Amino acid sequence: MTTEQAHEHATAIKDWIVEIRRRLHRRPEVMYEEVETSALVRDTLDELGIEYRSPVARTGVLGWLGDGNGPCVALRADMDALPIHEETEVDFRSEIDGKMHACGHDCHTAMLLGAARLLKDRESEIHGTVKLLFQPAEEGGAGGKLMTEEGVLENPAVERIFGLHVWPELNTGEAGSRAGTFLAASSTLRMTISGKGGHAAMPHLAIDPVQATAQVITSLQSIVSREADPLNSGVVSITSIHAGEASNVIPPEVALRGTVRALTMENLLWLQERVREIATAVASAHRCEVVIEFPGNDYPPTVNDPQTWDFARRLAGDLLGEEQVKEIPPVMGGEDFAYYTEKVPGCFVALGIANEEKGTGISVHHPRFKVDEDALPMGTALHVQFALEMLDQLR
Ligand code: NI
Repeated sequence: MTTEQAHEHATAIKDWIVEIRRRLHRRPEVMYEEVETSALVRDTLDELGIEYRSPVARTGVLGWLGDGNGPCVALRADMDALPIHEETEVDFRSEIDGKMHACGHDCHTAMLLGAARLLKDRESEIHGTVKLLFQPAEEGGAGGKLMTEEGVLENPAVERIFGLHVWPELNTGEAGSRAGTFLAASSTLRMTISGKGGHAAMPHLAIDPVQATAQVITSLQSIVSREADPLNSGVVSITSIHAGEASNVIPPEVALRGTVRALTMENLLWLQERVREIATAVASAHRCEVVIEFPGNDYPPTVNDPQTWDFARRLAGDLLGEEQVKEIPPVMGGEDFAYYTEKVPGCFVALGIANEEKGTGISVHHPRFKVDEDALPMGTALHVQFALEMLDQLR
């Protein structure tokens, strides 16, 4: 099948893909709670006559197609939503208060189901195996790590893996990625700075953690700007501060949250170490104590295999036109697709969804995030062609 044909077939089932996407969009579920989502994926695979294993990684689904006689490639979609209250005006907006598909994972799941349907139609041509990875908990839960630990890349062994992410920084009809490191290593920061509460009129009888916190935050900003090599990107952001309720009370402690990111694991660990050292020393200079944690998983950087990106780039060029495929600089966002590319060569590609007329250029993780659904058949076609052509190449 040519890429053009794949796009025709995907366009022919666009309404089916969009309808699945909207059903998912109405019922967003956050990490490891993807119960309805997982059921929808299983029901759809049942309808298509595609075999699968479930549960895998708690709420994930692993489907497969082909005659098993040859190489194996994997296509991956994430299924989880975010704890954000949706503020768009679309008529299929989230029905669940405080939860929203604000990172487009509903689209990822729907595009992969579209690919499953088209691949099933051509199963007799698949000499080898195509695995379909529907994973939970991309947003901070390291679902990809759990999927790999539960063996989705083995038996048969996956030789190449491909994933897509909708990308509001690119226009509909464009795609992009890069060879090597594409997305950052990232970790979550949690910190509590404790002093001694008291009456704000008598600061000498208290130990003020708010004042110490101000010094700590300012000092942390010297790590990236003064200590790190300017050519070696890093981010230290404090994003949340909570302390006190009254204007005349010095609170006993301040709770902070933030994120630390780098383009290599080594640099991430170094940044964490410096955050610990500086926060501890500065807090202590102000007579406060500090507890610092990097809870959850440190996501590794997402590193694209250069040959696999070359391959995907060519396919995307056939589909969208060569000038529509961009080599884009690394982004400091994190992505747990990294856990797969640590094990097998793969490629993660950004799929453009920005369309000024439709107002879809708003960034992911925003309550007004929207997707140009015209991009969905393009993603489906890319999945299909990646699987079929990569299997041919590996044979
Ligand atoms: Ni995402």
